Parts: sequence; structure tokens; C-alpha cells
Amino acid sequence: MTQFLPTDLMIPHPFRIEKVRRELSDTFTLELQSEAGHGFAFKAGQFNMLYVFGVGEVAISISGDPSDASMLIHTIRSVGTVTRAMGELEARDTIGVRGPFGSAWPVEEAFGGDLVIVAGGVGLAPLRPAIYQALASREKFGKVLILYGARTPEDILFKKELEKWRGRFDVDVSVTVDRATGHWAGNVGVVTDLIAQGGFDRRNTTALVCGPEVMMRYAVQALEKRGVASQKIHLSMERNMKCGIRQCGHCQWGPHFVCSDGPVFRFSDVSSIFPVWEL
Ligand SMILES: Cc1cc2nc3c(=O)[nH]c(=O)nc-3n(C[C@H](O)[C@H](O)[C@H](O)COP(=O)(O)OP(=O)(O)OC[C@H]3O[C@@H](n4cnc5c(N)ncnc54)[C@H](O)[C@@H]3O)c2cc1C
Ligand code: FES
Repeated sequence: MTQFLPTDLMIPHPFRIEKVRRELSDTFTLELQSEAGHGFAFKAGQFNMLYVFGVGEVAISISGDPSDASMLIHTIRSVGTVTRAMGELEARDTIGVRGPFGSAWPVEEAFGGDLVIVAGGVGLAPLRPAIYQALASREKFGKVLILYGARTPEDILFKKELEKWRGRFDVDVSVTVDRATGHWAGNVGVVTDLIAQGGFDRRNTTALVCGPEVMMRYAVQALEKRGVASQKIHLSMERNMKCGIRQCGHCQWGPHFVCSDGPVFRFSDVSSIFPVWEL
């Protein structure tokens, strides 16, 4: 398997789109393979810079299985110029890839204790590799909880996989929606309610949190209220990115560069700057 050399870090490598999967009305998954024929190793939590030729480049987390280097998978929500153009691409089109960049979810640090995964909306995508990794070594943890919140039942990402994980006897999966529609008979409320109800050992729990920033604020508060130590809470942050390799300064957040110190941060390392919104 070939990893990119440091000199390649600013050069997008061509990847062929093997499959486009529509997940939600505004969200889709791209399955990519290197046109040079090599695999793609990464750690759960890392991201790539994806380049739509002639349009622009954006940071997108990897949403596939870190134990499977044969296919590179990204799940994207169309919000603006580049992600909308990405949503118009089709199988056999080419996209540019730089990466993988950034820090990883510390799944192995959680061995020997409970693992609580808290996701909101499309934030489940950057956490999915950590879920795959944790489930592949399920016996190393105490309880494993996946707590997921979406706006409405129609916005639930990876619904089939959530159902599959819920079908296991060794994982607690709870899903809630802000607003019930149609025949929804499940939980209604915010994901922080699930933290308050979740059965985990507060003295020995590692929490991984990803979602809209406001949701992460409340999730961290709820975890701390339950007694989870701030050193054991980890979050994935999003900031404007250009280079991805600590050169341009676009992603600076207090003393940190989100592209290289993050995107995954230990909450105790960033708690003093967490209330600072992006300028
Ligand atoms: C480390 C990292 C990992 C990321 N992982 C993912 C991922 O896995 N999947 C994914 O879909 N996105 C992810 N993002 C966010 C993604 O990079 C942005 O959505 C993208 O840069 C938007 O670019 P654009 O050109 O499409 O939109 P722009 O034209 O730049 O923005 C258009 C409008 O959308 C708003 N906007 C921009 N970003 C967001 C956002 N994140 N949420 C809501 N509104 C926004 C802008 O404020 C603006 O009003 C990640 C970002 C970072 C930094
Ligand atoms: S994106 Fe350029 S320094 Fe982080």
C-alpha cells in the first residue's frame, strides 16, 4: 500500500468515483478508488481535502472503515459551492484527494472502560470509522453506547446501519429526533437527554462527540454533569481550511491549528477557548 509522501501534500491525487449513494435529501456518500491503483490507509477521525476540479477544495472527514484500505469513503452534506458541485458528480467521474490529515479518535484509550459515542446530524459520518473500530474489538470495552440525534426521522443518517448495530446484544443504540413526523414513535428531544438517561460508568467512560457546535456544547455539559472527566471527552471541530497542513493559518483556533492539532481534540485541552465562535 502506498502512502502519500510529504512532498505530495499539496498535490491532489486523482480518485475515481466508484459509487454515489444518496443518503438523505441533501447528503450523499462517495466511494472512491485511487486511479493509480493504491489503497488508502487512515485513522478514524482523520479528513481529506477533496477537490472538485475547476470549482474548489473542501475538508471532508473519512466515513469508511479504517480496517479496509481498498475503498475510500466520504459522506457529504451539500451546503455551498463546492459540496453542491460534488453532489452533481457521478460514478466514473474523477475527484482530487489530498490526505489523510489531522488527529484521530482515541478509540484505544477507551479500552477497559465504557465508550459513549454522541453524534448529531451529519456528525455521525466522522464518527462511523470509530464505531467500526470499536465494534471490531468489542470485547475490549465495558458498555458501548451510540447516542444519535437528528432533526426529523427523514434526517436520520445511516438508518440501516443504526438498525443493524441496535440488533446486536452488546451495543446500546438510542436515536432521538427534534421533531417527530409521519409514523415516528421513537424518542423526541435533544441528544443530550439521551446522555442524561444513558447507563454508563461515569468514573470510567470515554466519550466521542461530533455534531453542530451548539449540540457539542450541550453534550459536553451533559457529560460533565453526569461526572465524565473533561480529559475523557473528545470532540471533532470544524473550521475554515485551505492548506490542511499547518501552513496557511486559516484554521487557527486560539493556539491550535484545527487541521493538524485537530480536528479531534481532548475537551480539557480546548475548554478555555471552546466558547469562541469562528470569526
Ligand atoms: C475537519 C473537517 C471535517 C469535515 N467533515 C465533513 C464531512 O464529513 N461531511 C460534510 O458534509 N462536511 C464536512 N465538513 C464541512 C465542509 O468542509 C464544509 O461543509 C464545506 O467546506 C463547505 O464548502 P462549500 O464550498 O460547499 O460551502 P461554502 O460556499 O463555503 O458555504 C456556503 C454556506 O454554507 C455555510 N456552511 C459552510 N460550512 C458549513 C457547515 N459545515 N455546516 C453548515 N453550513 C455550512 C457557509 O457558512 C455558507 O453560508 C468538514 C469540515 C472540516 C473542517
Ligand atoms: S488549513 Fe492551513 S493552517 Fe490549517
